[in-house]
Amino acid sequence: MPQTRGSNRKVLVLAGDGIGPEIMRQTLRVIEFFDHRHIASFEVTEGLVGGAALDEHGVPLTDETMAAAVASDAVLFGAVGGAKWDSLPFELRPERGILRLRKEMDLFANLRPAVVFDALADASSLKPELVAGLDLMIVRELTGGIYFGAPRGVETLPDGSRRGVNTEVYTEAEIERVVRVACDLARKRRARVCEVDKANVMESGGLWRDVAQRVRDADFRDVELSFMYADNCAMQLVRSPKQFDVIVTSNLFGDLLSDCAAMLTGSLGMLPSASLGQAGTDGRRRALYEPVHGSAPDIAGKDVANPLACILSFAMMLRYSFDMAEEAALVEDAVRRALALGVRTGDIIQSNTGRVSTRGMGDTVLRELEKAA
Ligand code: IPM
Ligand code: MG
Repeated sequence: MPQTRGSNRKVLVLAGDGIGPEIMRQTLRVIEFFDHRHIASFEVTEGLVGGAALDEHGVPLTDETMAAAVASDAVLFGAVGGAKWDSLPFELRPERGILRLRKEMDLFANLRPAVVFDALADASSLKPELVAGLDLMIVRELTGGIYFGAPRGVETLPDGSRRGVNTEVYTEAEIERVVRVACDLARKRRARVCEVDKANVMESGGLWRDVAQRVRDADFRDVELSFMYADNCAMQLVRSPKQFDVIVTSNLFGDLLSDCAAMLTGSLGMLPSASLGQAGTDGRRRALYEPVHGSAPDIAGKDVANPLACILSFAMMLRYSFDMAEEAALVEDAVRRALALGVRTGDIIQSNTGRVSTRGMGDTVLRELEKAA
C-alpha cells in the first residue's frame, strides 16, 4: 500500500434518520481504519440532516451545515425521512435536506453502479444466470428536470377543486454536461452509452437525443451511443440486464430505473452512489456519496440494517474524490470477501448463510481489511 498520508481530506458526515446512524457508525470504523493504519487521514466533521435536523433546529438542513458541505472535500450522507415528519409541509420535509444539498452543491451527475457480487448472484429475485457478473452504471441527471422545474405546486381553481403541477425542463447545457460524464465513464468501461428518455411523448426527450448524439459525434467517436424509451428500459433491465454498460437519463427516470437496477444486485442494501459536480481547473469537484436505499424506518434502531451500501459509498469517495483507486479496491475486496464467507444481514440472507447484525457485518469487513492492508 502506498503511504498517502499527509493532505487532510475534509469529509462532512451527515448520517440523517432511520438506519442512517447505524450504517454510518460501521462506515466510520472503516474510515478510522485508514487513519489508524496511517494509510490516509481524514478530517471528519459530523452534522445533522433531515428529521434529525428538524428536531434540533426546525429545518431539514441549516445554512451552517449547507456551508460546511460546500467547504468540504466530500460529503458522506446516510438517509433521511420517517413517519414522524411525514405530515410536515412540503418545504420542511426531511427529503428537502438532500435535495437542497444536491442543488446548492450543483451535483448534477449521479453515478449509481449496479454490480452483482459473485456470492450474491443467488440473492437476486432474478435467475442467477441473468445477473451473474452484472456490472452496469446508471448516470442520473440530479439537479434538473421535474424535481426542480417551474411552475410547480398545487393551486385551487375557481370551482374550488385543486390542480397539481410539476414541470420537466432541461436546457441543452444541462443535458450536455451529464452526457459528457457518462461518455467519459464509458471510455473506462465497455465504451457503450444508452440514453434513456420518453422522446415518443416528451419534447424534452427529443432534445436529450439530439444533444447526446451531438456530444458523442463531436468528442466521443470511440463510444457507441444508443437510445431507448424509459418504459422499455425498465423491462429490459429485468429481462436481460447485461446488455447495458452505461445508462444516462433524466432525474426522474434515473430515480425509478436505479431502484429497479438495485434489486438486480440482490438488495437495495448493496447499492452505493456518488453525486458529482463539475470538475474545476485543478480537477477537484464537489461531491456527495450516499447509499441508494432510504432510511428504512421499519428496521431502524434494531441493528439489522445492511451497512454495505454505505461502506461502498465511502469506497466511491476514495475513488472519485481522492483519486485513491487502490484503497477503494481494498474496501471493495473486503466487502467481497465478507460476502464470500457467507456473512449476511437479513436483507441478503440465503438458506446456507448465517445472519449477522449491522455491527457484525462491520466487524467482518474490518477483519478482512486488517488481513489485506
Ligand atoms: C433517491 C431518493 C430521493 C430521490 C428522495 C429521498 C428525495 O429516492 O436518492 O433515489 O427521489 O432522489
Ligand atoms: Mg430513489
